[in-house]
Amino acid sequence: MKNLNLASSALLVALALSCGQPAKKAFDGPAYLDESLPLEERVEDALSRMTTEEKVALTHAQSKFSSAGVPRLGIPEVWCTDGPHGIRAEVLWDEWDQAGWTSDSCTAFPALTALAASWDPSLAGLYGTVIGEEARYRKKDVLLGPGVNIYRSPLNGRNFEYMGEDPFLASRMVVPYVQGVQSNNVAACVKHYALNNQETARFFTNVTVDDRTLYEIYLPAFKAAVEGGAWAIMGSYNLYKGQWNCHNQYLLNDILKGEWGFDGVVISDWGGVHDTDQAITNGLDMEFGSWTNGLTMGMTNAYDSYFLAAPYLDRIRSGKVGVTELDDKARRILRLIFRTSMSPEHKRGKFTSPEHYAAARKIGAEGIVLLKNEGDVLPIKDARKILVVGENAVKMMTVGGGSSSLKAQHEVSPLDGLREALPGVEIVYERGYVGDAGGEYNGVTTGQDLSEKRSAAQLIADAVKAAQGADYVIYIGGLNKSDHQDAEGADRELYGLPYGQDAVIEALAATHPKLVVVNISGNAVAMPWVSRVPALVQDWYLGSEAGHSLADVLTGAVNPSGKLPFTFPVAMEDGPLKTAEQYPGVPGDRKWESSFGAVPILEETYSEGIYVGYRWYESKQIAPLFPFGYGLSYTTFAYGEPKVSKAVTTDGSVSVSVPVTNTGSVAGAEVVQFYVADPEASVDRPVKELKGFDKVWLEPGETKTVTVQLTRESLSFFDAARHAWVAEPGRFDVLVGASSADIRGTVSFELK
Ligand code: BGC
Repeated sequence: MKNLNLASSALLVALALSCGQPAKKAFDGPAYLDESLPLEERVEDALSRMTTEEKVALTHAQSKFSSAGVPRLGIPEVWCTDGPHGIRAEVLWDEWDQAGWTSDSCTAFPALTALAASWDPSLAGLYGTVIGEEARYRKKDVLLGPGVNIYRSPLNGRNFEYMGEDPFLASRMVVPYVQGVQSNNVAACVKHYALNNQETARFFTNVTVDDRTLYEIYLPAFKAAVEGGAWAIMGSYNLYKGQWNCHNQYLLNDILKGEWGFDGVVISDWGGVHDTDQAITNGLDMEFGSWTNGLTMGMTNAYDSYFLAAPYLDRIRSGKVGVTELDDKARRILRLIFRTSMSPEHKRGKFTSPEHYAAARKIGAEGIVLLKNEGDVLPIKDARKILVVGENAVKMMTVGGGSSSLKAQHEVSPLDGLREALPGVEIVYERGYVGDAGGEYNGVTTGQDLSEKRSAAQLIADAVKAAQGADYVIYIGGLNKSDHQDAEGADRELYGLPYGQDAVIEALAATHPKLVVVNISGNAVAMPWVSRVPALVQDWYLGSEAGHSLADVLTGAVNPSGKLPFTFPVAMEDGPLKTAEQYPGVPGDRKWESSFGAVPILEETYSEGIYVGYRWYESKQIAPLFPFGYGLSYTTFAYGEPKVSKAVTTDGSVSVSVPVTNTGSVAGAEVVQFYVADPEASVDRPVKELKGFDKVWLEPGETKTVTVQLTRESLSFFDAARHAWVAEPGRFDVLVGASSADIRGTVSFELK
């Protein structure tokens, strides 16, 4: 054998020399280490060399964020990190406390709501690429993000980590993000699959939803991510059909791995695994963050007590279960390792580079939405003195909010951003209200002292007084990342602005004609003062470059082009969630035997069905405060007649185009939206649904034709009885506009 190898190597050398090529040494190690081999061959070879114990060790955590590789074979550990807005600071091996590194302060990127509000898939690609570079640099193999749970209620504390209320928009935005991350040999782990649309009782809510709603509203973005090549997906905490979603036969085996053919790894949410037998059979591949039943947290062998650790091995050894599932799990995990840390590409990544900050700034600015601009108050011009009011003008927002909390290398506040952008202008600051003066999450602190002794009345009086003589008053408030605001683990309790902010805004509106209100949040909020405020901007948690992005828009350095990725209703009561059965759920008969004792599982029914977001408001003809897809610009756009490529189609493929002209005096971008209506449907369908969009940049006076391609899928609804997507023959209308409520033209065609 050895001689044969020698002989063949000699032949190769001779061949190479005769072709004038330098000799390439043949790989003489085991096949799984041979980077020239196809991935599946490496996987099978590695698998064939592993013991059962080694395979089981792959399937569960060994620390808070890592799992063991196969040390004997030199197959590395798998390292995960949150996700989704930056690379989380390092924690201790077995604790949430900080490891105390000095080299883990990252670039904080804008919240995913901001990315979704950009309506620009190419920016999603940029986002994925740069955050993937940061993850790779920090030697992470799995980025726990992006999140694509649909915005069902404005009270959901984690909406800021998601991509809005529309499955088509979220689907278009998630794919480039995933591909950008993975271009760095870092797996994106799309979360939280599925039906995890609230934080209240997230560990023990059983969701009942009809199949049509599941397939039309809650699954498409996950499916798009899988079709886009996602290497990992995270199961959610809640239950569906009475099974926990981290080991759920229907969601994981039937749909994800069955219908969609997912070949990647299902990772549990941290502490989302409850049962060894179901974890073995129901589609889970890797278990993380379990509370170890009956053992002290942090005990040295606690990880061996995970549901997929010793209990799994015991079942195999006693012959209670076979190894078919184990081989499948190990195969998927090896695939992930060969796609990431053992990929032949050897990417190295980049961390806190100038390009990363530039990307954060650009994505942030492109996501900001101009909601109101009466009398062209904005952009700021000819100002000598500006009063800035509000805690969110100074409060660092990268810390807090739960697992997406970051230790940012720097964070430019809105106040600092404005001061830097307007050097000749006197900018004075007044607090206006006290929100949350704290600034700590898991041991990462902002170091800001936001303590305040003045009363609420005094703070308002001081702000009003300071407004005298100012050319502009810019109020910067909204929500923050504290509990019951925009934060993981607990939903908001009120739709209105907290901390008495409405009174501050009313007082300023009564004092100054040039009031600009900037709302920073990841959710819609009530705005009872909206008619008294001339200029209104929806800002988001924009990370490191927050202040630069906002200043870019307020000064006009960037012409705003963001559009709302979710509806702002006037009041909560206008929305679809009317009963406790719908939200937050009611205690049912099932019990969860948790480590805190027996907890009744909440039963929750999505009885509003497909009528989520604008689908609801439009079907009920309830005018929202600001509609889905809405956002203004410093210029104006005129839409010409929309046209279809053919009047009749047999397969549903039609292209729709519309000329759009910049009719103002500054350059800017417009998000042109295409909604499909099915007026002749035999089933109840929404008034219309987003099925295409494009963002187009136009110089003043310039016209461009925007074209989108529709397919049979764009025309279909999910027929639960047939378990199939159905496009019914008949007339379809395409409504083309600048928002869901601002339709500029309609064109029809027929499906034969
Ligand atoms: C969150 C996940 C997160 C994980 C690890 C969980 O509590 O739901 O989104 O990735 O913790 O921090």
